[in-house]
Formats: sequence, C-alpha cells, structure tokens
Amino acid sequence: MDLYEYQAKDLFAAHGVPVLPGRTVDTAAEAERAAEEIGGSVVVKAQVKTGGRGKAGGVKLAQSPAEAKEKAEAILGLDIKGHIVHRVLVTAASDIAEEYYFSFLLDRSNRNFLAMCSAEGGMEIEELAVERPEALARVPIDPIAGVDRAKADEIVKQGKLPAEVADEAAQVIVKLWDTFVGEDATLVEVNPLVRDPESRIVALDGKVTIDENAEFRHEAHAQLVDEKSQNPLEAKAKESNLNYVKLEGGQVGIIGNGAGLVMSTLDVVAYAGEQHGGMKPANFLDIGGGASAEVMAAGLDVILGDDDVRSVFVNVFGGITACDAVANGIVEALKILGDNATKPLVVRLDGNNVDEGRRILAEANHPLVTVVDTMDDAAAKAAELAAKAGA
Ligand SMILES: Nc1ncnc2c1ncn2[C@@H]1O[C@H](COP(=O)(O)OP(=O)(O)OP(=O)(O)O)[C@@H](O)[C@H]1O
Ligand SMILES: [Mg+2]
Repeated sequence: MDLYEYQAKDLFAAHGVPVLPGRTVDTAAEAERAAEEIGGSVVVKAQVKTGGRGKAGGVKLAQSPAEAKEKAEAILGLDIKGHIVHRVLVTAASDIAEEYYFSFLLDRSNRNFLAMCSAEGGMEIEELAVERPEALARVPIDPIAGVDRAKADEIVKQGKLPAEVADEAAQVIVKLWDTFVGEDATLVEVNPLVRDPESRIVALDGKVTIDENAEFRHEAHAQLVDEKSQNPLEAKAKESNLNYVKLEGGQVGIIGNGAGLVMSTLDVVAYAGEQHGGMKPANFLDIGGGASAEVMAAGLDVILGDDDVRSVFVNVFGGITACDAVANGIVEALKILGDNATKPLVVRLDGNNVDEGRRILAEANHPLVTVVDTMDDAAAKAAELAAKAGA
C-alpha cells in the first residue's frame, strides 16, 4: 500500500525523523486557517499517490494565509497524471540550502535491501540514475545486520553528502531505517532531504510503501487505508480474504484456483476475446487450493457485483481439492446466491476426480452454467457469451 506524503511524514515523525509542522485539509478555506496557525510562509502541496507533483503545479509557496487559500484553490481539483487532488498539505516553508536524495527499498533482484543516497536531490532521481549514475550511491544492506551508525556513516560518505551535515544525516538515516523496519515498509524515500541554513537536516517530502503482507502485526496501519480511493469491489473481496484485482476494460469475470492458472486464464480469455469483439478479462481472482462452497460463493458474489462483467469463466484444476468438491462448491454457491446470480457461467474442470465433478454439474443442470471440457474452448465460450450479452 502506497501512502500519501502526509501519512509518510507522520510515520517519520513517530520514528524521530525531523519533519516540518503541517496540516492536511480538503478546502481552500481550511488551507487559509492552517496557514494562519502555522504562521509565516507555507507550502501548499497536492496529496496524490503519484510522483512529479511539483512539475504538475501541485506544490506552491504562499507568503500569507490569503495566498495559501488562493494556491489551495488552484491545486484542489487538479488532475495530476490521472489522480484528482482532493486534499492538500499545508506545511511550513523551509529555507533550503541544499537538497539531497535518500531511500531505502526492497531490492528484489538481489534479495536484499538497498540504500540509495545522493547529494543531488530534488530533481527526478530516475533521470539522475540514468544520466549520471556515479552521483547516486547504491549501498546494499544486510537484512540481518540492518543499519547502525557505522553503516549510516558509510551511506553518507558514498552519497557524498557534505562534511558539515554528515553527522546529522547519519542520525536521520538510522531513524529512517527504524521507520523502514518498524513499519514493515518496502520503500522509504525522501526527495528532497534538505539541509536548512542552520545545517539541520529535514525530510521535506516522503514516499512510503507498506508491505500489506505484514498488516496482521500493524493494527494502526488500517487507519492509513484511504477508503474513498479504494476500488469498492477490491474492498469487498478483501473483507472475504479473496485474492482479487479488478482489471479495467474487461467483460469476462475470472475465477480460478492457483495464481499461475488464473494468470494463464487471463491470457487465453484475452486471446479468445479477439475473435469476439475484443472481449477481455475483467479481473484476477484466485480462490486458492481449498475451494469450499463459501469461498466460491464469496468469489462469485464479488464478480457478479461488477457491472462490467457479462459472463464468468470458472477455471479449476482439481488437485488436493478434488473436482467433485469444487463442483459441489459451485452448485452450493449458486444456491447461496439465488437470484443474485444473473450472468452466464462457463465452467472448465479438470484434474483429480474430474468425471465425478462433471457428473455433479450435469445433474444439477443449472440454467446459467455451461460446462466446457478444455480451457481454450471454455475461454472462447465465455468470450462469446460476453459479446452476446453486450450486443
Ligand atoms: N516545505 C517546503 N519548503 C520549501 N520548499 C519546499 C517544501 N516542500 C517542497 N518544497 C520544494 O518543492 C520541491 C518539490 O516538492 P516535493 O519533493 O515534495 O514534490 P515533488 O518532488 O514534485 O513530488 P514527488 O515527490 O511526488 O515527485 C522540492 O524539491 C522543494 O524544492
Ligand atoms: Mg519529491
């Protein structure tokens, strides 16, 4: 889960990383009041989960509360790379002597953590990394050893931060590591990390990505979820512990068991859809190994609730959970859903105890269900039904 800048900075503050005071507001009038409270010049910053806000006109300096109101009016409602600004952060303006770049991230390709540090922050770090890679230090972090003061000193040195700030920057880096580990983050990025005229180090911006797999041990993170911007179908799926991702522009709902099978199902449906007016998969949904009737019903419920979906392809390979159990699951799920089940279902079953599974479905003879023996034919059937439903 990506966090907003203000949320990232709240976490920073909780771990002792220096940030400037600020308030998040969603109207221009509140921005004016916030600027009054903070006093002096302020910066009004769009809160959207995308980069390059400054360039897009989403970060503006204001000398007075009246100006803060004006700037907030201009920024609220702005479209930044498809993200509409609903909230702004009003924060104290800093006199910036220098801007640095700093991040900790999960380095998947090296199965390691990585620190990146540069004395040349503020600008687009991707550009710096390409144009002058020597200016961006990359320091691998041993996950067991972590980042102590000695390691932080090494990072500061490799990033070529000036000697006057070395001590303070190293202290801040240790605290950023505390944030990274303590919050189970996969990214903590500060761009810019600035030096003010008194040579104090402050995090002026913050980007944090939280590892959702660790949410069970962070009750407080539930409050960071932005319900307004969450896809309602994904939220509903999450409540039932389903592994569901909504795909834009699709019409064929997909249910399968096992992530690999579901991914190849998306491929065959997209391929088959080319013959049927460009029908596409509408979602990813992996109901996992133990496909009980309840899980099948919860999955079908989410997919049938998707207005974009016109047909559903249930693609199951019986393994530990045999096909007869899955078939019973489908029949029971349709009973549970009753009148809520309204769209045609194409079912392909194979694997362990397939004959019994097909027999159960044939016997149930549900009017919405078509059983097709192969994955390709089933995909074609589902695409065909979706195209027909839309015609
Ligand atoms: N509180 C502040 N005081 C003074 N200047 C600021 C402040 N916050 C940001 N700035 C200036 O605005 C620039 C852009 O701000 P920031 O880094 O927060 O946004 P961004 O980099 O455009 O957005 P993103 O990080 O999403 O790409 C900073 O590099 C800094 O020069
Ligand atoms: Mg930035």
